[in-house]
Amino acid sequence: MAEVIILPSPTAAGSLVADEIVRLVQRRPDAVLGLATGSTPLPVYKALVPRLQGVDVSQVRGFALDEYVGLPEGDPESYRAVIEREVVRPLGLDPARIQVPKGSLDGIEHAGEDYERALTEAGGVDIQLLGIGTDGHIGFNEPGSSFASLTRVKTLTEQTREDNARFFPSIDDVPVHCITQGLGTIMRARHLVLLAFGAGKADAVAGAVEGAVTASLPGSAVQLHPHATVIVDEAAASSLRFADYYRYAFANKPAWQGL
Ligand code: GLP
Repeated sequence: MAEVIILPSPTAAGSLVADEIVRLVQRRPDAVLGLATGSTPLPVYKALVPRLQGVDVSQVRGFALDEYVGLPEGDPESYRAVIEREVVRPLGLDPARIQVPKGSLDGIEHAGEDYERALTEAGGVDIQLLGIGTDGHIGFNEPGSSFASLTRVKTLTEQTREDNARFFPSIDDVPVHCITQGLGTIMRARHLVLLAFGAGKADAVAGAVEGAVTASLPGSAVQLHPHATVIVDEAAASSLRFADYYRYAFANKPAWQGL
C-alpha cells in the first residue's frame, strides 16, 4: 500500500515535498525530476523557489508527464509553455535539460518512442510528481489505460476536456488528443509522489489508494509501486476509510525515513 499523508493544507504539502526534492538535489546534483502540470503541483514549485536559493541546480534534469497534441508551437496552454512558466524559469533550471513530450503533429507517430528513449538514456526518473484527475487519470492515462502502457498518443475523455476547459477560451478549444507517459513508464520512476487537494478529488483518491487495482482507475497503479507517497489535504482525504490509521502512522513515522 502507498503511504498516505494527510496534511492541513496544500501549502504544508508543498513544503514537505519541496524539502524532499532539495535533499535529493543536494545528494544528486543531476537528479531527474518527473514534472507534472495542472494546479495541484503548484504549491511544490512555489515552495521550491526559496529553498533552492544557493543550491546548484545547473545539472538538474526534468521530464514532464504529458502534452496536448496539435496546439500551435508556443501556445501558452501547451504543457511545454506551462512547464517553462511555472517550473523552469522560477526555479532557474536549464531549459535544455527539461523535456516535454512533443505534441506537434509533425513527427507525432514516433514522439512516444523518442520520449521513452530519452527517459531511458537519462537513467529514469528519481522522483515523479503526480496529480490525479477527477476520473482517476494520472498523466493523461484515462480509464482503461494498460498498466504496461508506454508514452503514446491518447484521446482525452469528455470529463477531462471539461475539467481543463477553464484554461481555454471554450471547451471546443481543448485538444481532443494528448501524448502522455504510460502507466508502465510512470511506474519505472523510483519514487512516486501523488498529490490531491479539495473535495472534488476525494473519490478519485479513495479509489486509487483503497479501491481495487484496476485500469478503470489508473491512479490505482500506485498500489503496485514499491515507493509511492500520496499526500492529500483534509478535503481530499474525506472519503478514505483508513484515514485515522494514516494519521497515526505519519505521527509515528521514524525520523530517519524521510518521505
Ligand atoms: C490534467 C493533467 C494531469 C493532472 C490532472 C489534474 O489533465 N494532465 O497531469 O494531474 O489533470 O489537474 P489539476 O491538478 O489541475 O486538478
